[in-house]
Amino acid sequence: MKVVTSVAGMKALARQWKKEGKKVGFVPTMGYLHEGHLSLVRESKKRADITVVSIFVNPTQFGPNEDFKKYPRDLEKDSAYLEKGGVDCLFYPDAAEIYPPGYRTYVEVRGLQDRLCGKSRPGHFQAVATVVLKLFDIVGPGLAFFGAKDAQQVLIIGKMAADLDLDTEVVTCPLVRDPDGLALSSRNAYLSPEERKAALVLSISLRWAERAIAAGERDAAKAIAGIRAAIEAEPLARVDYVEAVDPVNLEPLAEICGDVLIALAVFVGSTRLIDNIRLHV
Ligand code: PAF
Repeated sequence: MKVVTSVAGMKALARQWKKEGKKVGFVPTMGYLHEGHLSLVRESKKRADITVVSIFVNPTQFGPNEDFKKYPRDLEKDSAYLEKGGVDCLFYPDAAEIYPPGYRTYVEVRGLQDRLCGKSRPGHFQAVATVVLKLFDIVGPGLAFFGAKDAQQVLIIGKMAADLDLDTEVVTCPLVRDPDGLALSSRNAYLSPEERKAALVLSISLRWAERAIAAGERDAAKAIAGIRAAIEAEPLARVDYVEAVDPVNLEPLAEICGDVLIALAVFVGSTRLIDNIRLHV
């Protein structure tokens, strides 16, 4: 596996692959990799000639009181994991490579970036869209793979790619869970054993909603109230938001009907976790 740390070096490789007619698959990450990331790598290896993974803990997408400094990092373990997964190239730039002094340019995906997680994380999706656009330009992927756990993120990146006529197809891969239902996330590493147990309330409450809807519930407010009640019954959990929305424009739904995204964010102790389900009713 090649490890590239400079933008110039990564662009040179991307140019060479283009000349050789190779299709590049790209998995952007912030590291501390888990099986969810590996599932994206496997999909890329199936569909592309070359698989590139980036590890960059993007400082601009963390709010002032968020966990940028303590975000888990383990380059050695991540590199071994990627090598074993058959990744061709790891792009591991530092912040000064991506944001040289005087950096000023940002991308906005209006109307989507301020909903759901964007309400409690102002500026987050502008920073995500910006860094992903830069990474796409540097790596030159034909395909880029994102997990469905970050439903709003992948929607925003897909919309950006479409609106800007990017040559990168944005592929959404299924959300990966631990066997007990907890959605995989690098932030799960923050949870104490008690919090890890309490965090199951996210997937349990979503599964309850899925069953209620399968049994005929169509009132979104009632489904949301049921999810909230289940979460609020867990002493270590605090709801940030629970919403039922249209998965294309993220507008809140009154009725559970057609394509529906039920998304939530919950603090378990001080760790903010997200989860969601997509339904067709
Ligand atoms: O999902 C992530 O890990 C990050 O938001 C991403 C897409 C790598 C951008 O920093």
